[in-house]
Amino acid sequence: MRSALDRRTFLGGLGKAGAAVLASPVWHGRAAFAAAGPAHVVVQGGRYRAELDRRLLGAFLEHLGRAIYTGVYEPGSKLADSRGFRSDVIAEIKAMGVPIMRYPGGNFVSGYNWLDGVGPKDKRPTVLERAWNSLETNQFGTNEFIDWCKAVGTEPLLAFNLGTGTPEQGVAYVEYCNVAKGTKWSELRREHGYDAPHAVRYWCLGNEMDGPWQMGHMTAREYGRKARDAARQIRVLDRELQLIACGSSNTIMPTYLVWDREVLEECYDQVDAISLHNYYGNTAALTGNDSARYLAMNLDMERQILEIGAVCDYVQAIRRSPKRLWLSFDEWNVWYRARGGRFANGQGAFAPRLLEEEYNLEDALLVGGFLNTLLRQAERVRVGCLAQILNVIAPLVTSETSLLRQSIYYPYAWALKYARGKVLDLRAESESYAIKAEGLRPDFARDELVPFLDVAATHDPQNGQVCLLMLNRDLVSERELAIDWRNLTPSRVIACETLTGTDLKAANTFEQPARVAPRALEPPRPGSTMTFKLPKHSYSVAQIATS
Ligand code: AHR
Repeated sequence: MRSALDRRTFLGGLGKAGAAVLASPVWHGRAAFAAAGPAHVVVQGGRYRAELDRRLLGAFLEHLGRAIYTGVYEPGSKLADSRGFRSDVIAEIKAMGVPIMRYPGGNFVSGYNWLDGVGPKDKRPTVLERAWNSLETNQFGTNEFIDWCKAVGTEPLLAFNLGTGTPEQGVAYVEYCNVAKGTKWSELRREHGYDAPHAVRYWCLGNEMDGPWQMGHMTAREYGRKARDAARQIRVLDRELQLIACGSSNTIMPTYLVWDREVLEECYDQVDAISLHNYYGNTAALTGNDSARYLAMNLDMERQILEIGAVCDYVQAIRRSPKRLWLSFDEWNVWYRARGGRFANGQGAFAPRLLEEEYNLEDALLVGGFLNTLLRQAERVRVGCLAQILNVIAPLVTSETSLLRQSIYYPYAWALKYARGKVLDLRAESESYAIKAEGLRPDFARDELVPFLDVAATHDPQNGQVCLLMLNRDLVSERELAIDWRNLTPSRVIACETLTGTDLKAANTFEQPARVAPRALEPPRPGSTMTFKLPKHSYSVAQIATS
């Protein structure tokens, strides 16, 4: 890695629209080079990129594998409450403070009949679920999910079926959830014991409808019209709901960007946002199995955000519309080992072990990078969902008797705990290293320079606290990061921790649950310049009181 050139990348005076803090020069086109030395970040209160909508740090729960059954819901377990909800899971997710939870899918939703999952439990049908070839008992459905959201203190983000489902069924679902009373579907909810409406504000109009794997897969024009029809009817019920159209499900889709443009050309006036999805991995095709390339993948996510944002702006301009869409990155994570084949086929079983990805240290570092990217792009991306939250490609895993925190839990929990207020527009510079395009899948093939350090920060003007989230991509050496405080005076380091280790491939297991866990990082003394010593291949957080 060190053989790559050591130049310093300077990203000064970055505007809101495109540039990323300590991001690659070419990908963002705003960088110049500066002299060698420690990396620098200039922190200036009042210089913000965006107000932080906490929904940016949401998660996702799908009827898939063991996510719901034996995860969230396990009646009969010693750990279950009177409703059958696992209380250890509730306690953990509540403590994390996940702001929004997408449900019920995912691919699952494109074949889901929401009516199967409401009403008396003994009348609910057991069906063969076709996205994951699993047995779905429907003992957990929308009303249970809403109860569970209340228990964990999260907001629901519901998706409805626009695959095998019709706009009429989708609109009926919105009516069931949100209309107070006096109509067919609202009265059905009341009959089911839910007098008050669920008041769900955020809705996904289907899932990944560009994918040939999706039930009801269709062309962009067909989907765009279907979404528009559903959205227009929903507006009759409530003009204020936030409606998210399905964007491209990956950057490698042959229709990437064209799909998004065509969908929006059909439904721009009726929707508020478009979705982005992507999963990343350290594989021969994606990174050449090179961890240095792997740790730069959050910059690929950043590029995707800018590209999809540009498509939205294009359609806005073509339509002469005053409305600017926001983005919903409602599926993102590392996912490459437990993928396809037996990992994705439930063989008709109930709660099969599917997509049970085991996360290691380098995955956690990259997840930290993704969180930095989302924070930097918070002006455009309003909702983000780590996919997923439990058992299935997840930071948390249940056994019959306990709950395991995988490595990726830590960066996510830090962002949830410490990132507050407004995202700072940092001025930053760092040495960089080269990554190579040769041999990689086209959407990840780049000859670029990548900064060793990647930093994002928030400032809460209410209490003066600053949160710094720092990724050191250097696989060989510790790196220094000097924070220059301009108009804020740091008075105390409240918290300072790092996630690192000798083995990038180390993972937590039920037998060894703390192989990858945070440890204290020696904080610099408060002063006008504070220099952090960031261990090689690490992700660190600092919370600092300022006045
Ligand atoms: O999160 C797992 C799956 O990945 C989701 O069901 C689908 O939307 C995506 O392809």
